[in-house]
Amino acid sequence: MTIFSTREIPEAGIRLLQDKGIKVVQWHEKRELTQQELIDNSKKVQGIILSGRIKADAEFLQECSHLKVISLFSAGFDNIDVAEATKLGIPIGHTPDVLSKATADTAFLLLLATSRKAFYHHRRIVNGDWDFFEPNANLGIDIHGKTLGIFGLGNIGFEMAKLCKNAYGMNIIYHNRSTNERAEKELGAQKVSFEELLSQSDVLSVHANLSAGVQGIFNADAFSAMKPTAIFINTARGQMHNEQDLKHALEKGIIWGAGLDVTNPEPMDKDNPLLYMPNVAVLPHIGSYVYETRDAMALLAAQNCIAGLKGEKLPKCVNPEVYNRG
Ligand code: DGY
Repeated sequence: MTIFSTREIPEAGIRLLQDKGIKVVQWHEKRELTQQELIDNSKKVQGIILSGRIKADAEFLQECSHLKVISLFSAGFDNIDVAEATKLGIPIGHTPDVLSKATADTAFLLLLATSRKAFYHHRRIVNGDWDFFEPNANLGIDIHGKTLGIFGLGNIGFEMAKLCKNAYGMNIIYHNRSTNERAEKELGAQKVSFEELLSQSDVLSVHANLSAGVQGIFNADAFSAMKPTAIFINTARGQMHNEQDLKHALEKGIIWGAGLDVTNPEPMDKDNPLLYMPNVAVLPHIGSYVYETRDAMALLAAQNCIAGLKGEKLPKCVNPEVYNRG
């Protein structure tokens, strides 16, 4: 049995696969594969580990319907046509939970960086502009005791809420389809409507999975309904917010600041004005960029492959309905 990986992944995952007698072929080039290269490499193997920006669309899945497993090296699964994979009987694995803390840490980092204009002040030093002390210039916002609104309170949102509650005594509200009883019990979180989330949040942090229903939901209307002192944080997917509307809202003072670990498109153009605004902090999608998390992701991706190759249920499966097909 052989697995093709579209990226070099941490040794922990490779070793686990090899210990089970599975051969691993990794894509070593520092460029994205073309769709045809993905198809050609996938045709030679029984399973793949998919990472990077490449999409497993319907055409790819139909060409490679022999695959026993597609193991995503990510929690998000917006780069794959899940419905088509399910129709073709291909189980899709992913790596949720193990990256929740690291991703929440990134949201928290962006919250602090934005509220204190940290990236802007760093640029002042780099630009030789650390000169005259002005008591009123370029101040930040104190977030102690303020209200954190979470859009999509799953595991990552929970970790972000916990950090904000413990560090700053923040009041937690959230908007979800389902009630998060643990967050309500442990953090005193309160479920609210989308409109209430917009109007009451001092900090609004996005943690939902990307789906057609929420794509672009943070648009001009949403920003207008927020407080002029509000900070918008997105560590989920760049497609959740409309970038032009966000820029406009920041320029016009409709909202106060933004911290983004995700952009649309990625990578963000180096001349994008958002990178140079004082109240904005942008990172290049580094949510899970820590050794410990990456090792855990590699192990989970490998475990998903091992189960898939054996025809067993994946430990973390995006489309468990694949097992109910007649
Ligand atoms: C994830 O795991 O979904 C991260 O955002 C990386 O894509």
